[in-house]
Amino acid sequence: MRPLKGKVAFVTGSGRGLGRTIAERLMAMGADVALHDISEEAPARFGEVASLSALAEELTSNGARAVAVTGDISDNAAVEQMVAAAQARLGPISILVNCAGGDIGASGDKPNPSTPTQFKLEDVQAVLNRNLIGTMLMCRAVAPGMAERNEGAVINIGSILAHQGSAIEIGYACAKAAVVHYSRCLAMEMRGHGVRVNAISPGPAKTARFLATRSTDPVMMEEGPSLDRYATPAEIADAVGFLAGPDSRFVSGQVIRVDGAAGLYAA
Ligand SMILES: NC(=O)c1ccc[n+]([C@@H]2O[C@H](COP(=O)([O-])OP(=O)(O)OC[C@H]3O[C@@H](n4cnc5c(N)ncnc54)[C@H](O)[C@@H]3O)[C@@H](O)[C@H]2O)c1
Repeated sequence: MRPLKGKVAFVTGSGRGLGRTIAERLMAMGADVALHDISEEAPARFGEVASLSALAEELTSNGARAVAVTGDISDNAAVEQMVAAAQARLGPISILVNCAGGDIGASGDKPNPSTPTQFKLEDVQAVLNRNLIGTMLMCRAVAPGMAERNEGAVINIGSILAHQGSAIEIGYACAKAAVVHYSRCLAMEMRGHGVRVNAISPGPAKTARFLATRSTDPVMMEEGPSLDRYATPAEIADAVGFLAGPDSRFVSGQVIRVDGAAGLYAA
């Protein structure tokens, strides 16, 4: 079963981590994929692959086509150039996954301090640019074409921090809450045009970056029957595959928390 055969997907931040696993999943479902990262070298940062182009070559040898595009998603000129380059090589984009992001401040590290009353303005602005503005610019560049063709699925990656108050990681929590709400707003605009827009909010997931940047709880690392653990990247990619494919054809404007019931609340 290759339900996405003939479709073209653009997955931001897919040189490594969750984005990479999502791209692999969409390719396994038959889609051709524009792999994206901020630079050729970014995918190598935590030892996952040598470069973005090397990853594109490796994945293409498995079946569907993958091409590499690089650029900063918070730079509108770069966004327009990347979208044009991807479409020139693969054809019109009908699946957009906005996965690039993270809690990375102005200096390239985790912001510190990062509480509601103690933060550096430049860090909050950098985190908003990387998560919210980048997602908005990508959607603005891609969704109108989907609407013209009356076909498309947009999936934006939030975080469980979008849904609960946080006294730490303040810029990130607010940026991800806004990503989720922007997804609802775009779903409303796209409703009459056959374009579905949804968000996924992962709980902590075992990407190379996640594992390299904290001390982990050995019990949470175990992949037994308990849901009280870290997610695997494949578990997040499964939910993206559902929202990208035909089984979710009447699902739009929703957010799915993929967190093993870590956060149980109404919205
Ligand atoms: N892993 C987790 O536990 C977890 C949990 C909740 C949400 N998330 C979200 O999932 C996404 C992926 O996380 P990950 O763990 O795979 O992290 P990661 O750092 O491995 O991947 C993020 C990717 O985005 C790229 N990127 C960042 N800023 C960019 C920019 N301005 N322009 C272009 N590319 C940029 C990075 O280079 C990298 O390839 C992020 O949005 C993150 O906030 C992750």
